[in-house]
Amino acid sequence: MKKERRNKYRIAVIPGDGIGPEVIREGVKVINAVCELLNVYIETEYFPYGADYYLSTGKLLEEEDFKTLSKYDAIYFGAVGDPRVEPGILEHGIVLAIRFYFDQYINLRPVKLLPGIEVPLKGKSPDDINFDIIRENTEDFYIGIGGLVRNGRVSHVQRLIRNLYMIKFNLDIETDADELAYQLGVISKQGTRRVAEYSFEYARREKRAKITFVDKANVITHIYGLWRREITDIAMKYPEIQYEFEFADAMAMRMIRTPERLQIVTMPNLFGDILSDLGAAIMGGLGLAPGANINPGKISMFEPVHGSAPKYKGKGIANPVATIWAGALMLKELGLPEAHNLILKAISNVLLEDKIKTYDLGGTAKTYEVGDAIVRKIREIYYGEKTL
Ligand code: NAD
Ligand code: IPM
Ligand code: MN
Repeated sequence: MKKERRNKYRIAVIPGDGIGPEVIREGVKVINAVCELLNVYIETEYFPYGADYYLSTGKLLEEEDFKTLSKYDAIYFGAVGDPRVEPGILEHGIVLAIRFYFDQYINLRPVKLLPGIEVPLKGKSPDDINFDIIRENTEDFYIGIGGLVRNGRVSHVQRLIRNLYMIKFNLDIETDADELAYQLGVISKQGTRRVAEYSFEYARREKRAKITFVDKANVITHIYGLWRREITDIAMKYPEIQYEFEFADAMAMRMIRTPERLQIVTMPNLFGDILSDLGAAIMGGLGLAPGANINPGKISMFEPVHGSAPKYKGKGIANPVATIWAGALMLKELGLPEAHNLILKAISNVLLEDKIKTYDLGGTAKTYEVGDAIVRKIREIYYGEKTL
């Protein structure tokens, strides 16, 4: 369910920490350039969430912030994470909080090797590395339920509140271990069915013939047993699309050895996190890999797969391509596929010309030079096609 094409959109921009602001600047530059050509007006508003905001105000995202964000058509996000803040606080309080609040249950992460990128896998070409990861984005071991048990016995009551359901965990734990930590994973019937349905619909729409569903149902039997059962049931509605199951460990191997056999790979949250970084590696690195957190037809968030890469902060050398590509995914989701295609073509052409690349791709270009080159290429392609 795509949004209908309009000629005006409002985007909430959250540049975040580290290299986030540097790559987002280029992304907004490219979005504005392409939309100007297509006569679409993009209104952007910036939000300061991230480490500095947290350190100076003590705040992450609060109910009223979500209400404000609800007024936008989409969220364009850099990355958060900062060495001054304990790991997990910004990640949970900002990134995961947005994904969960807006119930962005799909995390779409294309793994596509562009021409012009030095091929990371021996003997493979861009034709061989071209599939989509669909990561379930609200459940599994990401639900944040867990704790520490000290001194033998602990009672915990924790609640999980989702759009789909509520769960109350009433945990009474007794142990003779000195100390232990536990973390619970949840997979629900509805949560699985909606990601399976999205995957099959996506396969139809994008003309992909096969879906590979990933799990670890041989060991983590409860949650991934239910995952398999519900997927098998949904698959019956899509007889023209092939599907198979694969274990996550074997999947890691297949992504390296035979990526050409993959078209859509749908995974639970944690395997999707890990294997999408592997996907980034086989398409040339984290500097290139885009992502979309989608609630179909509702407020979705678009961001690179990478994080804030704090050691490169302020140097102006981070690769903005992943973020620019994520911007293209945003325009596609908003009903502007021609804007997406134009940006992708411009990215490919700039990389193919091999002159303007950042350090991670073996070049010396600055972040802004890549953004500028992509803008120039967009205009060149657009006017070139118009005069044909
Ligand atoms: P990272 O993705 O930030 O960086 C890992 C390495 O990849 C970098 O050191 C760099 O060598 C390379 N890299 C990443 N992006 C690049 C780019 N655009 N151009 C060139 N090279 C690039 O992962 P990390 O170091 O594990 O995490 C740093 C922080 O980011 C942590 O706090 C983490 O929690 C956070 N994080 C946030 C998000 C998010 O906000 N969505 C995503 C992932 C990680
Ligand atoms: C990603 C990141 C996030 C995740 C973190 C920052 C919460 O690693 O987007 O891949 O684990 O999903
Ligand atoms: Mn990740």
